[in-house]
Amino acid sequence: MSAISLYAKPSPDFAQKLAHSLALIKTAATEYSPLTQASSLGCEDMVITHLMHEAGLDNASASIFVLDTGMLHLETVALVKRIEERYPFKIDVYHPDADAASAFVEENGSQAMYKSLALRKQCCHIRKMEPLERALAGKKGWLTGLRREQSAARAEVHDIEQQPERAKVNPLVEWTQGDIWHYISVNAIPYNPLHDQFFPSIGCAPCTRAVTLGEDFRSGRWWWENESAKECGLHVAADGTHEAQEPAAFEPLSSIIPIREIQA
Ligand code: ADX
Ligand code: SF4
Repeated sequence: MSAISLYAKPSPDFAQKLAHSLALIKTAATEYSPLTQASSLGCEDMVITHLMHEAGLDNASASIFVLDTGMLHLETVALVKRIEERYPFKIDVYHPDADAASAFVEENGSQAMYKSLALRKQCCHIRKMEPLERALAGKKGWLTGLRREQSAARAEVHDIEQQPERAKVNPLVEWTQGDIWHYISVNAIPYNPLHDQFFPSIGCAPCTRAVTLGEDFRSGRWWWENESAKECGLHVAADGTHEAQEPAAFEPLSSIIPIREIQA
């Protein structure tokens, strides 16, 4: 069953939300130049890339970057080319420091993220946080696909959050999952085929699984950890709000949930 047929359902005030998001992106491009989009290549980020195009942006006025952790599904990575074919953007792909990544695996094993929260965070630091720092260097604004509906930790997210060095702009804060899939459907926006296989939220392959009926959007992310732990650090407040807690009982499910083959 496709994600579109499952979820597409615009809110009654969708037209206003859309107009607001477009206006916000246009403002961000002038107020916070150079502006960049952080794209995980998930459904929200594909919507933002489309909105950037609708807002008249291209590589002359904004950039898009992807943090390729080396652990993404092949279906995810394939979207880079699809975006470049459809939109006037060339994607900047950032990779982890190869020495740091291989030293970590050598020391802690390829399944380290399941062993403890500290190791999981260390892996996220090497594969996401350090490359993020490089991607954001010199940027005055960055666009993200955060939505309030995604989790309790994100319920208070604002349109514009002033950070010490730049503004974080979240054009989709009020969009529902129904809005996202409605917009993808009417504009035939390319999306990750894993969304059609019950992966509503997609990150690295070892840390993402499909959800079942009734489970929430993010329950397939770091599923062995407590609810409050489910952030990789990209969106943790400077004061540590939403900081991950060590799970009370750790139960690695990696042995029973098939993990797709991942890139080297
Ligand atoms: S995460 O923090 O739990 O991984 P999530 O997958 O919900 O975040 O994505 C939230 C936003 O973070 C995305 O809309 C995107 O802006 C940014 N983001 C997450 N992962 C990446 C990535 N691999 N590359 C670039 N941006 C990312
Ligand atoms: Fe490592 Fe998982 Fe974090 Fe990806 S999400 S960087 S594989 S711990």
